Amino acid sequence: MKVALASDHGGVNIRKEIASLMDELNIEYVDFGCDCTTSVDYPDYALPVAEKVASGEFDRGILICGTGIGMTIAANKVKGIRCALCHDTFSAKMTRAHNDSNILAMGERVIGPGLAREIAQIWLTEEFEGGRHANRVGKISDYEEKHL
Ligand code: RB5
Repeated sequence: MKVALASDHGGVNIRKEIASLMDELNIEYVDFGCDCTTSVDYPDYALPVAEKVASGEFDRGILICGTGIGMTIAANKVKGIRCALCHDTFSAKMTRAHNDSNILAMGERVIGPGLAREIAQIWLTEEFEGGRHANRVGKISDYEEKHL
């Protein structure tokens, strides 16, 4: 699995925590910044990461900002992206099992680094259940094909 990782200036610390988690788990990733010496705009990070995942260049993405909300809204504008904002471990597990989410978003001003690490570890390792959930996800893809 190859993961595209990015944050704005509001998510630098958790981004570094997640990078070190992926080092420990031997998960291949590319860190797309920001270097965040100054304030940046979250769509400039969310949209390129989402496009890299949608194109298949990367299997998954992880995006961090202050709340995780801006990253989620922006990433979900890209066709084929199912970005889930998770601030608890149950949601992280379920969004992989049921939604086959391909991007995880979190907010550094909402949760601490320890919980962010647990959420990311669960999200990175949980499998999609398929079956009736594949049918439901397929309805979203069908909508995208027809309308986007
Ligand atoms: C930046 O101040 C903040 O707005 C951003 O990190 C994020 O929370 C947006 O949703």
